[in-house]
Amino acid sequence: MAKKIVAGNWKMNKNLQEGIELAKGLNEALAADKPNCGVVICTPFIHLAKVSEIINHNVIGLGAENCADKASGAFTGEVSAEMVKSTGAEYVILGHSERREYYNETPEILKEKVDLALANGLKVIFCIGESEAQRDKNEQNAVVKAELEGSVFHLSAEQFKNIVIAYEPIWAIGTGKTATADQAEEIHAYIRSVIAEKYGAEVAADTSILYGGSCKASNAPELFAKPDIDGGLIGGASLKVADFKGIIDAWK
Ligand code: 13P
Repeated sequence: MAKKIVAGNWKMNKNLQEGIELAKGLNEALAADKPNCGVVICTPFIHLAKVSEIINHNVIGLGAENCADKASGAFTGEVSAEMVKSTGAEYVILGHSERREYYNETPEILKEKVDLALANGLKVIFCIGESEAQRDKNEQNAVVKAELEGSVFHLSAEQFKNIVIAYEPIWAIGTGKTATADQAEEIHAYIRSVIAEKYGAEVAADTSILYGGSCKASNAPELFAKPDIDGGLIGGASLKVADFKGIIDAWK
């Protein structure tokens, strides 16, 4: 059975003080009311070391939103997977559509990042998903399959156990337009079938496949009720404790 996970992606929000407050608030809320799923928060790099000291890692996992495609050296401004790991973080988001689109991250670059993240003991939340134009042409299955083949299907089955997949249709991110639960389930089931073809049914069944894109407390229960939706990757609604907790509680 795949682990159920609700992960937050803060994106480029919250200064250090605000981020500390948010992490403290979430830690307190989940200490008072234990979650029924794995919870992860992925923060900007500068928050990681501080937030790592604040949270109970038995309840809340910590992740970065990116890491470098090089191990170390003269790459001004970059942050390596090893550095991320050294903060106490356990996860890193890779392949987010915003990084693919605005920072020209290609499948080859993402493959390098995935390899470095795993080599440094991080779990990868790997994002895939089609644009609105691609869905209009009914190309969503081909798009997500190519994204998996391009950056994670070179891994061994043993390595692939450290990959969490996040299906995030680009047209649903930050738009308030959520995929319907049926639409999401259809492609999640497809993604699981592609993983099964590559790694076998057992690995596929154990892979957490999260939905992301305008997920909130009001639509999370319907999405999470679907057999192939193992949780969510949450942007906007992860920035307030009550909103994020509302989604976490969808697993109760
Ligand atoms: P929103 O929840 O703000 O739509 O963002 C989803 C997302 O991109 C998470 O990575």
